Amino acid sequence: MRELVSLRNCERVLLVLLAQRALSGAWSQFRRLGVRGVYKSFVGAIMRGAQAAVPGVSGIVEAEKTKALAGLEKDLLGDGDADALVAMPAKGLPAKEVELKVTTLRGKEASKSAGEKRWGGIYHEQESELTGLQARVWAACNCTNALYPGVFPSLRKFEAELVSMVLGIVHGHEVGAAGLLSSGGTESVLLAALAYREQGRLRGIARPQIIASLSAHPAILKACHYFGMDLIKVAPDPNTFTLRADLVRPHLTSSTVAIYPSAPSFSHGVVDPIEELGALATEKGIGLHVDNCLGGFLLSFLQKEGLFTKPWDFAVPGVTSISIDVHKYGCSSKGASVVAFRDASLRALTYVPSSEGCEGLYVTPTLQGSRSGAVIAAAWATVVNVGDDGYRHIARDLHGAHLRLKREVAAMKGIRLCVDADLAQVPICGDDGVDVYALATLMEKRGWGVFTGQKPPTLTIPVGEQTPKHLDAMIEDLRSSLDFLLANPDTKPEGNAAVYGAAAAIPDELLDDILRGYVDVLMKVKPA
Ligand SMILES: Cc1ncc(COP(=O)(O)O)c(C=O)c1O
Repeated sequence: MRELVSLRNCERVLLVLLAQRALSGAWSQFRRLGVRGVYKSFVGAIMRGAQAAVPGVSGIVEAEKTKALAGLEKDLLGDGDADALVAMPAKGLPAKEVELKVTTLRGKEASKSAGEKRWGGIYHEQESELTGLQARVWAACNCTNALYPGVFPSLRKFEAELVSMVLGIVHGHEVGAAGLLSSGGTESVLLAALAYREQGRLRGIARPQIIASLSAHPAILKACHYFGMDLIKVAPDPNTFTLRADLVRPHLTSSTVAIYPSAPSFSHGVVDPIEELGALATEKGIGLHVDNCLGGFLLSFLQKEGLFTKPWDFAVPGVTSISIDVHKYGCSSKGASVVAFRDASLRALTYVPSSEGCEGLYVTPTLQGSRSGAVIAAAWATVVNVGDDGYRHIARDLHGAHLRLKREVAAMKGIRLCVDADLAQVPICGDDGVDVYALATLMEKRGWGVFTGQKPPTLTIPVGEQTPKHLDAMIEDLRSSLDFLLANPDTKPEGNAAVYGAAAAIPDELLDDILRGYVDVLMKVKPA
């Protein structure tokens, strides 16, 4: 009995110690993460402590992780691939055979995305005259390398002109902005963050900080991780999901080098209030990077058409850089984004010249060394082919589809718009206990590609160039899925949606481990 009592006491002491450790710094976390975030990190800290201190706990946690990863592996790799290539063929396969393998595999995917209801991050029509042009330009430039502008002067011209055309749509020419062509939104964000880190270091800041909303794309998390900076994540306004200046202000420190709003955010399609953030950045003498990766092109042309009226780009004093993806609403093939700097001297901070090495004098414009000229030429051809009139047309069409979808959702009982999104996305939240993850599953079963997000649980419908022609069918399926769910409230989410549902209660540390394991699964060759 005494043993039992002292054991209980030990447990109590252990828990108190763990709780103390978990609670230290909890207030600053609370300000940043809100109740749910603190709860998760509290449970996470308890779990870490318990894993170390209580025999058997780490085994249970490991078993849960293994189970989750086995499920992910089953989803992605099934029972294995009868045609898996672990090593290269001893004798090269004939071209026809290789091509057949590619077209067969792509054909299977195409039937999965029947009727273009799931477009997986491709925002433009996939079978069009434009994509035909892209393929031909791609073929013409397949064997080129932008690392050698002397050998391929056409690529230098395409790249410089493409950047200049993109600067033009964000009021860059009016302020003398300068840009770089990167491989995508993430690289553009990395380059901007690198510039601010260098600027901070020049000002004597050892470990610069960037302030972003919880709704910011993880590209900025990667950037801070890679470049040794701290990312301060601030909970956005709970009603508008925007990063207001008064929410940012309490987090500013002498190490803050930039604020990072989105125009719009991927999760909610809302444009942060750039003007007030620009005023704050100017007051503090720090950078303001506008993540326009998703909205790139669409927002500019909505503005030109008078369909979005708030200033958000270089027209706003205080905006010091913008990332604009050409490969989203700019309609190019994947691999093209522009990062624009108000001031060319900020751009120059990203350069890494090498003059000492055996290779000789070496410098490249971005993170990459060799780059395919095919991506560059195809992106240039896209913008030249679509032109101002074409992008205006796309913007008008998408705006109409976006408005109609929002209207229809707002009228449906059981769901509501999480927020009145400005463009690109329609984020849907559940009312009266309706589980939007289950709704997402039902939509997926009807063949629709939708996104799911968290904080709050969200089902997001992306609006792309394909949307207008599918809109009636999509609305019909959303309505019937919802009717089914209301009649069968026990319907459980499956697949991705189920993962999100479960994730809401799992500590971040454990989720991060599962995400790491997910990458390992992606890289796996699994023979049947
Ligand atoms: C707002 C935002 N920023 C950055 C990115 C990253 O872009 P990418 O996937 O091209 O690297 C995305 C991608 O969807 C995005 O929506």
